[in-house]
Amino acid sequence: MKALILSGGKGTRLRPLTYSGAKQLVPVANRPILFYCIDNIVRAGITDIGIIISPETGQEIREAVGNGKQWKAKVTYILQDEPAGLAHAVKVAKGFLKNNPFVMYLGDNLIGTDIKKFVKEFIKKKSDALILLKEVVNPKQFGVAEVSRNGSIIRLIEKPERPPSDLALVGVYMFSPQIHKAISRIKPSQRGELEITDAIQEMILMGRKVKSFVLETWWLDTGKKDDLLVANAIVLDEWGMIKIKGTVDKSSKIIGRVTLDENSVIQASTIRGPVVIGKNTVIENSVIGPHTSIGDDVRIMNSSVDHSVIMNGSEVIDVERLEESLIGRRVRIFKNSRHKTLRLMLGDDSVMEV
Ligand code: TTP
Repeated sequence: MKALILSGGKGTRLRPLTYSGAKQLVPVANRPILFYCIDNIVRAGITDIGIIISPETGQEIREAVGNGKQWKAKVTYILQDEPAGLAHAVKVAKGFLKNNPFVMYLGDNLIGTDIKKFVKEFIKKKSDALILLKEVVNPKQFGVAEVSRNGSIIRLIEKPERPPSDLALVGVYMFSPQIHKAISRIKPSQRGELEITDAIQEMILMGRKVKSFVLETWWLDTGKKDDLLVANAIVLDEWGMIKIKGTVDKSSKIIGRVTLDENSVIQASTIRGPVVIGKNTVIENSVIGPHTSIGDDVRIMNSSVDHSVIMNGSEVIDVERLEESLIGRRVRIFKNSRHKTLRLMLGDDSVMEV
């Protein structure tokens, strides 16, 4: 069994962050989202992993993941010239996948459960496809499944006008090599992409065994700011821990699960976990958390920050309250007016004065 992680794409919904970086490398609890995908795949016992990359962000992905040694996995990079759809990515990866069954994992998806049990089930039942479904409140924005009473899939529709159910397709799929035949039979959709939903639908028409499971745990497609902040909060809640390597002065208070990396300094501040703080960061006279991730080389002074992600090299100075914000790299935020609360989405290298 192999794995194929899709880490190309356009990332339009996370602009401006994705103008300068890959969305799969945006950090959740200070680790790139993509790393959680690799963790889950390796935990399922799969170590032969192909990663689809785009010409724009491929190099950055290669540098972050390397050859997979830190997971004891073998990583092969596969260049997709243009983001022509999820099924197009599978087509491009045919040389890597050969005739092996595989897990396809969208590199911006996070799920709250191990995929190991689904992989086992897929192998045991000798299915041609296994898809995961999850109830969502806004099915129009997803690939949606119509499921019969006995749980078999009747049809799949991409972003339907009138959704037949509230069951969306989660970004983790398992396929037998039959998927290649199905993909060769489909045409690009109205939005010009080769859709994986159409390929799975084709498999159903071919009389192939397509199974589904409804996820009982959380699933987040981190392609948008709010989902990313929710993912950050959930990951901190579930995996946050107390680990203090930096220095905390006597007038500061650390409450709950706080991770503070080496060479970081907390002075005259309160940190309310779950919170993670990277290396070489200084927090002075501030209140941080809960549910906040702060990267490396960040400076926060005379401010209050909660439910936010602040990436490497940024500064927050004299801001009374910053909440539910996603801040890119090397952003400077400082205050000189009387507004109390800020809700922001700022790209790399932004400067904001309010
Ligand atoms: P999407 O989030 O559906 O697409 P996108 O990355 O283009 O983002 P947006 O909708 O905001 O413009 O893609 C899901 C994952 O699959 C994501 O990790 C990118 C990846 N992908 C590819 O690798 N190749 C592709 O052709 C497409 C469409 C997506």
